[in-house]
Amino acid sequence: MSRIVYVNGEYLPEEDAKISVFDRGFLFADAVYEVSAVIGRKLVDNPAHLARLERSMNELKMTPPASGPEIEAIQMQMIEKNDLDEGLIYMQVTRGAADRDFAFPKDATPSLVMFTQKKPLSDNTVAKKGIAVVTVPDIRWKRRDIKTVGLLPASMAKQAALDAGANDAWFVEDGVVNEGSSNNAFIVTHDGKIVTRHLGTEILHGITRKAVIALAAQENLEIEERAFTPEEAYEAREAFSTSASAFVMPVVKIDGHVLGNGVPGPVAEKLRALYLEMAKAG
Ligand code: PDD
Repeated sequence: MSRIVYVNGEYLPEEDAKISVFDRGFLFADAVYEVSAVIGRKLVDNPAHLARLERSMNELKMTPPASGPEIEAIQMQMIEKNDLDEGLIYMQVTRGAADRDFAFPKDATPSLVMFTQKKPLSDNTVAKKGIAVVTVPDIRWKRRDIKTVGLLPASMAKQAALDAGANDAWFVEDGVVNEGSSNNAFIVTHDGKIVTRHLGTEILHGITRKAVIALAAQENLEIEERAFTPEEAYEAREAFSTSASAFVMPVVKIDGHVLGNGVPGPVAEKLRALYLEMAKAG
């Protein structure tokens, strides 16, 4: 059975789901998106994803194609129609289709598309071993706080990591680590402090980042929201990244430097377990 995809009011088999070649998402990457996790048929931290989607649209002066509750109702339908027990829901809003012109069209109808991806998220074999990351220059645009589909630098970074025999890339700018290709980056110092880059236009304000910081605070772990250098990361006790698609992912090697004894550290494992508990509780 093929997936059921949502396109502008219709639920269609994926081979019948179509978007115009004049869609500005296709021509200008004039589109924003969100990825929400589903565990046990329930959406994880979804109101925060919907709020960020609304903010992304506002920042780009895009007309929302539907209200938050309407979008959530479509997400619920997608879980049902695709029998999605565990995996991801991807949603994308574009400014719509219009004759090609750099200026925003006056009367385009925004487009809303959604699809699901079945994936084992809670029992992730990669998370048990941890991943290797390499650092790459951050060549993205300067509004990384807006979740746009202009993802070529992220795609190139991820591919460069795979070509180098690693699993993911961390973006470095002005000598500091901003974030991962599609996740937020964290280190744990030898005195037990959890460090992640402070918020700003340089990084996406991760929903998982925020939840994990709150969980760490509940555990009385010390958190420092500040920039850190790759060199500090090489010497860290442990490291991890956070995202809706991988939750808390332990990092065991950075630019060839093995952290600790090369296995996921206790802080990353604890935070992953706490996050999963929260996600499963719904
Ligand atoms: N990526 N930073 C970047 C650049 C991201 O693309 C993402 C998410 C994150 C983590 O944000 P959150 O915790 O809200 O998922 C940080 C999604 C998962 C993706 O593009 O597939």
